[in-house]
Amino acid sequence: MTAQPSAATSEPAAARTSTVKLVDRLLSPEEGARRLASLDGAPRITLDSRQQADVHCIAVGAFSPLTGFVGSADHDSVCGTMRLSDGSIWSMPVVLAVDEDTARARRAGDTVVLVGTDGDPLALLVVSEVFTVDLAAEVEACFGTADSAHPGVAARLAQGAHAIGGEIHALRIPTSAFPTYDLTPAQTRGRFAELGWRTIVGFQTRNPVHRAHEYLHKVALESIDGLFLQPLVGDTKGDDISAATRMRCYEVLLEGYYPQNRVVLGTFPAAMRYAGPREAVLHAIVRRNYGCTHFIVGRDHAGVGKYYGTYDAQRIFDNIDRTALGIEILPFEHTFWCHRCEGMASTRTCPHPDEDHLVLSGTRVREMLLAGELPPPEFSRPEVASVLVAAAREG
Ligand code: ADX
Repeated sequence: MTAQPSAATSEPAAARTSTVKLVDRLLSPEEGARRLASLDGAPRITLDSRQQADVHCIAVGAFSPLTGFVGSADHDSVCGTMRLSDGSIWSMPVVLAVDEDTARARRAGDTVVLVGTDGDPLALLVVSEVFTVDLAAEVEACFGTADSAHPGVAARLAQGAHAIGGEIHALRIPTSAFPTYDLTPAQTRGRFAELGWRTIVGFQTRNPVHRAHEYLHKVALESIDGLFLQPLVGDTKGDDISAATRMRCYEVLLEGYYPQNRVVLGTFPAAMRYAGPREAVLHAIVRRNYGCTHFIVGRDHAGVGKYYGTYDAQRIFDNIDRTALGIEILPFEHTFWCHRCEGMASTRTCPHPDEDHLVLSGTRVREMLLAGELPPPEFSRPEVASVLVAAAREG
């Protein structure tokens, strides 16, 4: 285990999260209706689900200090130096990409109605700049590759190089399929304060919870007051398990195996970018905004295929000033069940050879589920495995 035992006793960088001002871009219903009515006939841009997720994250302050979509100065600064032009650390440019005709038709000063995936107005965008990015340079800087076989690169390349920057004002917040878990950063900060937690560890995940995840959570809980589990529920690549199934897995796991007063479960509305190290930094900043003081980064965080080294997403933090970041990182080695240790372990804690370790790839687990086979209890709690097999049967 690699949790830093001193983390909870020293003053965590992020006990200072209160100094990070939360952005709130949501208009009151009356103000929203008034502004929308005054914009009758204004140009409209229909968002795709990834862009809608970005609007959501900006509006509720998950992406604080962003107040809108980046312009060219922030775009280039983030790609080149991992900082916004005001100096704050930011790792992935949040770009509103549009087609060429839309870009040509817009000017700084225009107000545009951003239409949600349901066809209804979602937000207003006050255009500050219409610009073109060097797409190859952007994906190389952020994803470390321009390979279109990388799902995050493919999604970004498909959006194109024309972009519109500007502040947004949200008219409403989209709800997920799990509204009781849709907590905003203001709400989670309030909840953590009510619970009396001084230190809170955030956990990002896009996969069904398994024993290794549970081990990371519980090792962290040995020294941190509370755990904020925040499965990502925005777009993922086609073969990832659905958010609905993953949320159900968490419900059954929490019921049976976690102390109720030490855990908060909430949805993370963002889409997955699969950008490995750079996305790990974004994930940490976002959890700081939700009120966490610590953030777990395990093996190949936010990775895909063989694009990133196992611990690249931990190493990227070596050169990042924790005080400026406002959150501590809890790094974890690759963990697994060891038959000889008869428990979860990692190469830092287990002396036994690979043959004694149970390591199942995501692909192997998917094959087992499709064949109606339960993954072994040392990999997945039986309650969780049953949810996964039932979901695989339903297709
Ligand atoms: S991720 O794309 O959201 O990172 P996933 O849901 O699989 O994918 O992982 C969530 C977190 O758990 C990440 O920090 C990841 O590094 C960590 N993790 C997942 N499996 C393991 C494991 N076996 N050992 C150590 N860390 C792990």
